[in-house]
Amino acid sequence: MKDRYGREIRYLRLSVTERCNLRCRYCMPENGICKKAREEMLTEDEMILAVEAAASLGFQKLRITGGEPMVRRNLLSVCRRASRVSGIEEVCLTTNATMLADPAGGTGRTMAAALREAGVSRVNISLDTLDPRRYAWITRRGSLKDALAGIEAALDTGFEKVKLNCVLIGSFNEDEVPALAQLTLKWPVDMRFIEMMPMPGAAGFGPEAFIPCSRVLEALPDLVPVREAREGVARLYRLPDAIGRVGMISPMEDHFCGACDRLRLTADGKLRPCLHSAAEYSVKGLDAAGMKARIEAAVLAKPAWHGDLDWNNPSGDRRRMNQIGG
Ligand code: GTP
Ligand code: 5AD
Ligand code: SF4
Repeated sequence: MKDRYGREIRYLRLSVTERCNLRCRYCMPENGICKKAREEMLTEDEMILAVEAAASLGFQKLRITGGEPMVRRNLLSVCRRASRVSGIEEVCLTTNATMLADPAGGTGRTMAAALREAGVSRVNISLDTLDPRRYAWITRRGSLKDALAGIEAALDTGFEKVKLNCVLIGSFNEDEVPALAQLTLKWPVDMRFIEMMPMPGAAGFGPEAFIPCSRVLEALPDLVPVREAREGVARLYRLPDAIGRVGMISPMEDHFCGACDRLRLTADGKLRPCLHSAAEYSVKGLDAAGMKARIEAAVLAKPAWHGDLDWNNPSGDRRRMNQIGG
């Protein structure tokens, strides 16, 4: 359906959990989150009801997010049921990949293969560094080996596309931009650099940590824009002889609100018209008709844009990224 500014809203980002096995410094607090009561969180049936209602309003794309989706026990069932909803053309998943190579419940398959079988067509994976020590620092507890094993498992599984997300952080990973971009010489992935957004979780970083994607372009003079130029929130380029592409996601330097096509639903049942606004519409306990009406109301409440965002003007929201789903 169209919003008040004529934008066709067709993409639902469904967060299935706030929890995560990692604690990335721009996202989550060190001690994790205060666990909410089970009754506050959406049930699997409520999630599917929301996907059905969204599809009946013309939504075609579903992305499962978290926290880390794989810490939710019934994830495969959510994916399987959601991918069968009439009108939903693709189910995608955003993950840190550390569990993608794990066995899926004694089936002998990897979680990556089980997700593919459950109807997930594409995965987007966080990868901020190729240095094991830096990886352990930024995630506060993760192992780069697990993430790389997960990426390999995803590449072996035959997803339609694998994208890698790197949050740019000044004086942390800026020097790794060439090495990360060169992954597209050996893997058919989109390697996307993301400007860090000043969410509450990123409050520990000073102004020098927030660097624009233009610095990536300066570091990679060989990049050539690809013909289709933009896909979703990313501007796309290619290195000579690469089999993958390099993307820039610039919510700070060059926001893409004019082309926004998405609505978010948090794991505790709040529809979010905009990533950077505190406005929320609860769907907990609604029936099918109520769900549809609430989604329509949230779409019509989407703002034209999120207003100025920089280190001095942090996101207008109190939630951390893991409580929204990115
Ligand atoms: P595709 O379906 O592959 O286009 O995925 P995506 O880029 O929509 O999803 P992903 O979960 O990989 O998000 C990549 C980055 O873009 C994350 O840092 C998100 O927080 C950010 N992002 C996604 N949607 C929005 C948005 O509407 N506004 C802003 N400012 N950032 C967004
Ligand atoms: N700014 C930009 N991207 C972020 N992500 C998490 N927190 C931030 C932030 N403050 C990214 C993760 C993941 C995606 C869902 O959002 O790295 O790739
Ligand atoms: Fe977990 Fe992703 Fe947040 Fe890192 S960015 S703590 S992997 S939800």
